[in-house]
Amino acid sequence: MKFFVDTANLAQIREANDMGVLDGVTTNPSLMAKEGIKGVENCKKHYVEICNIVEGDVSAEVIATDFEGMVREGEELAALHRNIVVKVPCIADGIKAIKYFTGKGIRTNCTLVFSPGQALLAAKAGATYVSPFVGRLDDVASDGIELVEKIVDMYRYYGFQTQVLAASIRTTQHIIQCIEAGADVATCPLSAIKGLLNHPLTDIGLAKFLEDYRKVNG
Ligand code: E4P
Repeated sequence: MKFFVDTANLAQIREANDMGVLDGVTTNPSLMAKEGIKGVENCKKHYVEICNIVEGDVSAEVIATDFEGMVREGEELAALHRNIVVKVPCIADGIKAIKYFTGKGIRTNCTLVFSPGQALLAAKAGATYVSPFVGRLDDVASDGIELVEKIVDMYRYYGFQTQVLAASIRTTQHIIQCIEAGADVATCPLSAIKGLLNHPLTDIGLAKFLEDYRKVNG
């Protein structure tokens, strides 16, 4: 399973990249706003900065919600850097735009997906990635991981090439569940990725190895 980091924070992206296990980055307008990035040109500059840190796919989301606007924005975003993947919301004009981008060889990430039916439309339009939002479903007492499983099964059954990118991951346990569900990618906060390292037996074992080494070597 590939790891993307779900942030527009350059320091966190650098830290995740330095770990040597980062495969890409996802952003969204909320994450860009959180970093205080205002205006179209500043957003574009920021996407290029991210692309210059990570050798992998970087999702940049369109703001327009109509077909023509999404196409215009998406083409501009895709022209910024070869790593850009155009992120498009799962609405009617979005599906139409994904189909258009697919025909032009522009990679896409269909976002805000909450049902297998939406995921089917994204795959039929040729999306590179589909993003089921795990945490936001859990927030409303639904089962986000179950949705990931259903989409993985459906894509395997029909032979779709669209990759399942589990999004809205909140915890390390979500990452483990995504592995079990067969997700192709999980986009996660850096803290959830780092959480995979935590195990008390690793800490106890390491302390003992070092203690025994020092007993003999001083
Ligand atoms: C990434 O593609 C999504 O936009 C993001 O994971 C949403 O996460 P959130 O539900 O924690 O805002």
